Parts: sequence; structure tokens; C-alpha cells
Amino acid sequence: MKFFKFTFILAVCLNASGLMAQTPVLMPGNVETVTINDHNIVFKTTNAYGRIEVYSPSVIRVRLDKKPLGRDFSYAVIGEPGKGKANITQNEETIILITDSLKAVITKKPFSVAYYTAGGELINQDEQGLGTSWAGDAVTTYKKLQPNEHFIGLGEKTGNLDRAGNGYTNWNSDVYGYRVDQDPLYSTIPFYIGIHGNINYGIFLDNTYQSDFNFGASNNRFSSFGARGGEMNYYFIYHKRLADIIKSYTWLTGRMPMPPLWSLGYQQNRYSYYPEAEVMRIAKTLREKRIPADGITLDIHYMDKYQLFTWNKSRFPDPAKMSDSLNKMGFKLTVIVDPGIKVEKGAPAYESGLKDDVYIKYPDGQNYTGQVWPGWCNFTDFTSSKGRAWWRKQVSFFAKSGVSGIWNDMNEISTWGQKMPDNVLFDYDGAQTSHLQAHNVYGLEMIRSSYEGALEHFKERPFVLSRSGYGGLQRYSAIWTGDNRAEEDHMLQGVRIMNSLGLSGVSFTGMDIGGFTGNPTVPLYTRWIELGAFVPYYRNHTGVNTKAAEPWAFGEDVLDIARNYISLRYQLMPYLYSSFYESTQSGMPVMRSLAIDYTFDPKILWADYQNQFEFGGAFMIAPFESTREYGKIYFPEGIWYDLYNGGVIAGKQEKVVPLNVAKLPVYVKGGSIIPMQSLVQTTSILPTDTLSVHVYNGLTANSFVYYEDDGKSFDYKKGSFYKRTITFNPADKSLTFNAAEGNYTSHFKFIKLILHGFDQADKIIIGKDQIKAENGSYSFLSGAAATDPEGSGSPAESCAVKYIVIKNSTNNIKLNY
Ligand code: NOJ
Repeated sequence: MKFFKFTFILAVCLNASGLMAQTPVLMPGNVETVTINDHNIVFKTTNAYGRIEVYSPSVIRVRLDKKPLGRDFSYAVIGEPGKGKANITQNEETIILITDSLKAVITKKPFSVAYYTAGGELINQDEQGLGTSWAGDAVTTYKKLQPNEHFIGLGEKTGNLDRAGNGYTNWNSDVYGYRVDQDPLYSTIPFYIGIHGNINYGIFLDNTYQSDFNFGASNNRFSSFGARGGEMNYYFIYHKRLADIIKSYTWLTGRMPMPPLWSLGYQQNRYSYYPEAEVMRIAKTLREKRIPADGITLDIHYMDKYQLFTWNKSRFPDPAKMSDSLNKMGFKLTVIVDPGIKVEKGAPAYESGLKDDVYIKYPDGQNYTGQVWPGWCNFTDFTSSKGRAWWRKQVSFFAKSGVSGIWNDMNEISTWGQKMPDNVLFDYDGAQTSHLQAHNVYGLEMIRSSYEGALEHFKERPFVLSRSGYGGLQRYSAIWTGDNRAEEDHMLQGVRIMNSLGLSGVSFTGMDIGGFTGNPTVPLYTRWIELGAFVPYYRNHTGVNTKAAEPWAFGEDVLDIARNYISLRYQLMPYLYSSFYESTQSGMPVMRSLAIDYTFDPKILWADYQNQFEFGGAFMIAPFESTREYGKIYFPEGIWYDLYNGGVIAGKQEKVVPLNVAKLPVYVKGGSIIPMQSLVQTTSILPTDTLSVHVYNGLTANSFVYYEDDGKSFDYKKGSFYKRTITFNPADKSLTFNAAEGNYTSHFKFIKLILHGFDQADKIIIGKDQIKAENGSYSFLSGAAATDPEGSGSPAESCAVKYIVIKNSTNNIKLNY
């Protein structure tokens, strides 16, 4: 009896002191103490500590941990809290937080959170019974599945556009020739968007440990997100429009800087072009065959025994001279870098890293050594300011060689065996941690170092490309989808991955056109190179042991088609550059899932239509396998025009269309405004002084922000840009060019207005003048485009148009038709 009494008292004491073994799953329990401040609520529950903070009227952050909250630090988030009004009140049962956009209701017993619109509609709520819990160090928040809830985003993920019914893991992985259902891939963006009824919201889990998302996989009760360690730390974002959710997410994690114009041109790649004579042969052939191109990329064979910051001098005796020759031909050079530094006594980069003590280590102080291309390597700790500073210094090596772009590869971090030990230590910016927490952020900090190094040493805007990354990667780099296969479903999977990246804040995306592993069939290559013209980063790349994959390697017909589509891409450069500008301002991706503009139209999520996407706000692309003879396309609300012949298609209908491998199905949305230029073979050559502005008649008003600058310097930051909004308004039959903003003088002296679907518009009225609109035809795709600078000729297919030419000026120009 005495013994039982003793153990009972002991248990009570231990429990109170928190030392007794806990149940396998720990829940926060009831809210016990609350402090309400201007924009945040600090609270303690039975078993947890928490803080809920207003970042903006649409962005609320929730932090929860079973121990007092630790250092507030993020590699992803740059937005700061405290924007907008917040009204926070409490009573016995609840704490209520109201902003201009939403209402959060925190139930105290037990702790749980629900979010409502200002009008009181439920947006999202914790699953009442499950809430947030810890199993060991792993923390998960469970949300009640809403009726017919769909989920999109989560960055670089395979599978369907609609992620409902599936689960995903984030652990950056080197996945050579991955399967189309493989997970995880190379990068981690723990941000997704939920859609139900006419509600959409976003959730960003900012936790760099391995994270797991469940969107109703094997259960019908909840969606969940969690990580294997660290705090529950998520941002809840609500707006009425999905585009605004992306805007807020990219306000939080940053937006891409203006890219150099050349990086939007066609890039020729393979693993690997060497020696110099071969690089020059490729460059010359592109010019001879009149395939517009701006970039040539060197893969690992440019290095001496794969040692970073070296050139193989027998292959590339004078790299600076070579890049100078390439520059003169209108090509920029991008070179690959890997994080692994070969362990070799006396090698300058290795020794310098050793001296500066920048490598990641085991707990006993020995540098971690793993194998990659050069053999045994040490790895820079990019999570330390010392490591990043060292890397930035090394980047001067590339500046001296005339390099313009840095391609960051293998930064998941990849090592042969793919099993970096858990106990490797990283600085994590002053809060030393293990590989478990640093892994997913390693690639992000590598591209940050490369980008910042390039800013220090390059004369012009740098281009940075990465394979790995974490939320916020768009601030430093473009990303491509890694080692895809030369297979039909990979081409389409690539489209979905890039659309998902676009929904997750990353606009500058690409995939290896033609496929990395294996050899594409002739039709597949053809379809892929056509599609590439509508992909933000247009790079043809293939593996080390594959057949030649340059546009001329598949016969004359394919060469013609490739030339036509690449030429179209170059003519679209003013439109594309302006669309990139939009990404820098609002996070709106260049390649857009239809879910952005047609969020609540259930058909756009159907598997049949999930590969359709918008390129900027004007084009809709419907890619299909090259083997298909017919394709079913969904035309959302509005009116649509066939790009090639101007045929009008009413919206809100599904249509079966015949397919032809020489032609990618592309449509233009009614109301679109598309500025184009004459054909050039490289962006380093100026087009003619006429800007062709295509306008498509539509049912509703639409506007387009035209943006121009020098394409290479940072002068735009000091006001050296030319920007104007162009508005089409069918209500008063007008087209307005707002007065131009900025100090840059537009290159274009004339505007050729090319009107599609304006059959009745014979006269255009500008102020007191009446101008007769000429009848004409326009072909977007013709061999003639290669010789006719204005892009029209005698094509097989063309659109009937009306056109006038007017003088460009910086003033407001209003036209009526
Ligand atoms: C892996 C990359 O994904 C691929 O694009 C590259 O060609 C090889 N590494 C060799 O550097």
C-alpha cells in the first residue's frame, strides 16, 4: 500500500515537472495564458508554446512548439510582420483576430484555429480532434478536409495538377531519370493552395526538416502538413483571387529580379560540349542554319578533372578569348558548378577553402568527405556567412573568363551513395544544426552565394540556374526539372511540374527540351522543341551518352519546324520580357496553370485538361503526346482564337481537334494585347524600330503592362525603364496607350497595330484624325519569318488582320475603332 502511494505521488510530481514519459502523441491541450499585442498573440497551452502573428491583412503566421519558441529565423521569408490593421479580442472560450481580409478564431479548450472570410464563410480549420500534434520530434498540423477540396502547388512535384488524394515528401534528392510518379525530386517548396467551393487559400510551412504533406491520401478526414523536427511554423494566406495568393506568397518569400534579356533566348546545351572547337562549331552552325540563339552552356567537362574553379587547358586553352568570340557572335556562356571541391593537396580552391575553414564537418571536427564527379570531395557550408563569402570570392574566377551564367548542379546535396550522414554539422547561420535540418536549404544557400558572387563580380545582370532549392529560390535563380527522360509522358509531366512551380512562386523554370536520358523519337523531339518556345527557360539539353540533339540532328523538316518556333519566340521577346517584368512585380508566373485565371472552373483540374497552360496572360497552349492524332481541349470562359489561322472558338466548351506534329496547339485569349518585334538571331542585335502590337477583340476589357529597358544593366533600378499600360476596352471601342513611365527611351519609333477579329473596324480615330485600317494577313509561323523582318510572308496558314502604323511617343495615345 505504502509502495502504491509512493509511486502515485512520484508520478504526480514527475508529470508536473514534465519528466514522465509522454503518450506517444502529444497534443497542445488547452490555452492557459494569453498576451495580446498590436499584431500578435503570445500564448501557452498545457503542453505547448505558441504565437500567432499578423503579417498583413491576408497573411497570418502560426508558430507552435512543445518547448518555448526558439530563435526566429528563416532562409525563405523576407516579408516582415505588422502590416495593416488587426483587431484582437478574447473571452473565456476564444481569441478572435480580425483583419480587413479575414477572421481567425482560436478556440482555447483545446487549442485549435479556424479561418473565415470577412463575410463569415469558412476558409480552413484545424481538424477538431487532431489539431496539431507531436510524435517524437515530428510535428504535424491536421486540417479538416472541406467538401470537394482540391489542392495544387507544392513546387516541384510529379503527379496530377490536382493533388487531392495524394501524399508528398520534401527531401531534396538527386533522381537521375526519375519516374513520372516519383517523389521527392530535387527541390522543396512547402507551399500549396487549397480550393473548395468558391474559396481558395494558401499555406506555407516554413520548416527545413524533411516535411510531409497529406492531401487526403488514405484518409477522408484531413489534409495535413508537418516536419520531422523543429517548430510548427506556417503562414496562412487568404485572398479572393488565386493570383493574389501568389502575390502575397511572393511578398513573403521574395520575387525574381529582372533577368538578363539573353537568358530568355534559346540556349544550346549538352553534357558536354568540348573542346573549344566543338563549342565554336555549335555556335557557328546555329548562326548558319538561322536558328536564333543566345546561350551556350558548358557542362562538367570544361573543368580540369572536374575540379571546381579550373579550366581544362587542353580543351579550353583561352576561355576568356573564347567567350569573347562567342559574345561577338551574340552568345553568352553559362558554366556548371557543383558544390563538391576535390580533396587534393595543393589545389588552389581546395587549399583556400581549407584555410578559410569553410567545409562542413562531422561532430569530431573532421571535414565531411563524400564522392562526386572529381572523386572524394569536401563541401562548402553555404549555411555559414563565412562559407558564402568564400564562394562569392571564387565566383570572380568566372568573371575573369567572361562567363555570364552560373548553373548550380548537384546541390540537393548529391553524393554517390546518396546517403550523407545525419550527424554532419552545418552552421545554419549561427545556430549549428545537423544535416537533418540543413539538407533542404543547402541548395538555396548555394544559389544565393552564386548569385551574390555574380552581383559582385560580373559587369552585367547575371543568370543563375539551379537544380535544387527551397521556398524563396526565385530571389536568386531559375530552376530546371533535372534529369527527365526522352519520353512522351515526361514532356507532359515537365509541363505540370513547371506549372506547379509557377503556382509556388517560381516563374523562371525550364526542363531539358528533348529529354536528358535516352533518345527522343523524331516526332517527340519536334513536339518538345515547339513546346519549349513557350517555356520560360528554353534550353535544349541531353545526357552524356545520348545521340546528338541539336535542332539539325533530326532532319530538314524538324530543323524547319524548330527554326519557326524558335523564331516565333524571338519575335515574342517584347511580350515575354514584359511578362517577366510582371513576375518581378507580383510573382505572377510566366507559365501559368489555368488554375490561376480559372480557379473555380472544375474542368481545368480534370486530368484531360491539366496539361493546358497559359504563357503570359495571352496564350493558351495545349500540349499532347506527339503520337496522338486527335486531342481534346478545354476552352475556358471567353473567346479564343487559333494562333495560326485566327479561327474563333467560343469559351466554356470542350473540343476535339486534329493534331499535326508540325504544329503545337496554341490559342489566344480574346482581349489580349501582344507586343512583338522583328526577327533577330540573338537578343544582342536590335530589332527594327517598329513594335507590332497585336490586339485580339474580346468581350471584356483587358490591359497589358509593356516594359522595356536595356536588358542587361541595373539602371532600371534608378528609373531607366520605359513602361506603359495598354488597355483594350470593348465597352467604348477603345485602345489606350497610357503615357510612358520611366527615363528610358524606347527603341521603337513606330507602333504597328495589328487587329485580330475587328472586321468592322475600317477606320481608326486618333484625336481629330481618322486613319484607314488596311486589310492584311499575318502569319505567326512561316519559313518566311526567317527572312522577312516583319514576320509576314506567304505562309500556308495566316490570320486575316487589319492594321495601321502610328508613331510611338511617350504621351497618352487613345484610339477608337
Ligand atoms: C546532373 C544534371 O542534372 C545534368 O543536367 C548534368 O548534365 C549532369 N549532372 C552532369 O553535370
